[in-house]
Amino acid sequence: MGYFLNTTDDYHIHTLNSLGWELTVCNALYPEDSPCRLVLRCNESFGTQLFRFLGDKIPFEHLNTVLEIGGGLGYVMKDFLTLAPHLQATMVDISPLLLQKQRETLTEFPVNFREMDFLKMSISDLRSFDLAILNENLGDFPTLVFQQNHPEQNDPDTIRSLSRIADYQKEYALEFTPTENINIGALEVVEKLCGAAIPYIYLSEHSCEASLSNPQSPHLNFTSPGTPERISLQGHAEFTIKFSHLQTIARAFHYKVFRGQYVYILPIDFNEKVKAALRSPTPLTDEQEIIQQFVYDLYKYEYLVLIKDSKKKG
Ligand SMILES: C[S@@+](CC[C@H](N)C(=O)[O-])C[C@H]1O[C@@H](n2cnc3c(N)ncnc32)[C@H](O)[C@@H]1O
Repeated sequence: MGYFLNTTDDYHIHTLNSLGWELTVCNALYPEDSPCRLVLRCNESFGTQLFRFLGDKIPFEHLNTVLEIGGGLGYVMKDFLTLAPHLQATMVDISPLLLQKQRETLTEFPVNFREMDFLKMSISDLRSFDLAILNENLGDFPTLVFQQNHPEQNDPDTIRSLSRIADYQKEYALEFTPTENINIGALEVVEKLCGAAIPYIYLSEHSCEASLSNPQSPHLNFTSPGTPERISLQGHAEFTIKFSHLQTIARAFHYKVFRGQYVYILPIDFNEKVKAALRSPTPLTDEQEIIQQFVYDLYKYEYLVLIKDSKKKG
């Protein structure tokens, strides 16, 4: 088969020296004077808006422990702990540099930090958490990438990942077209979190199943490719996520699934400035370019909120 395994762990451990190259929606909204805030109905950071959005579904006041995996600069957790200071937080990250940044951002809170690859964390370690958060990072986990005539790979990780395709087909009836890229790492992440029966799970990432069709933004509209697409970034590549596969796995573990585009978490204010930027075929100013990219991201990113049905076992 013409598959090879795309991984980002080496980049995150040895090469990454800034997140600036990879401006997440979370980081873009963090500065109070961020031009991205002009696009939204609420002038608040991402973490604050996410916390309020999740508050409809997650009873934060009854939770004790929260685990954030791949927390970047630590801004989401800072907002969560400001709004719910009773939570005992653990941050797991593969990048020593970003874990250090998280220590600095969260210095006023009693947080537990662990430097490790989440895929190596044991299910028994996960069982103690009430809530798990993975924001804008599922695409960093390994992807099986199809390339016509790619020589057969013999390394143990690729062989193991290829053999897992059959498991996912059999256990969860997932269907893969013969040449599609496969988010093998993201499937494993969801299987692990659900297998540990964590009661509440929130995940988000660029989706290969999202689309935008809005007459107000004729030049931004896009259709869904349906299979994971490559995103080339500084020093590494990531892949968009096939969320329907993650949903299927979560349901098999008896989770209730809520799914949507970021624009539901971060509603847009279609004010004159935003409307002018969205009407323009090419951006006329730096600000219009930022608005166009940000609105595109609000539709391209999807989230899942998974809630364990406590009446059903397994
Ligand atoms: C694109 S950043 C997202 C950061 C942050 N969640 C945000 O929304 O701004 C990806 C994060 O995931 C971490 N990461 C990537 N692969 C990981 C792995 N296998 N285990 C744990 N953390 C990982 C990176 O070090 C980084 O903190």
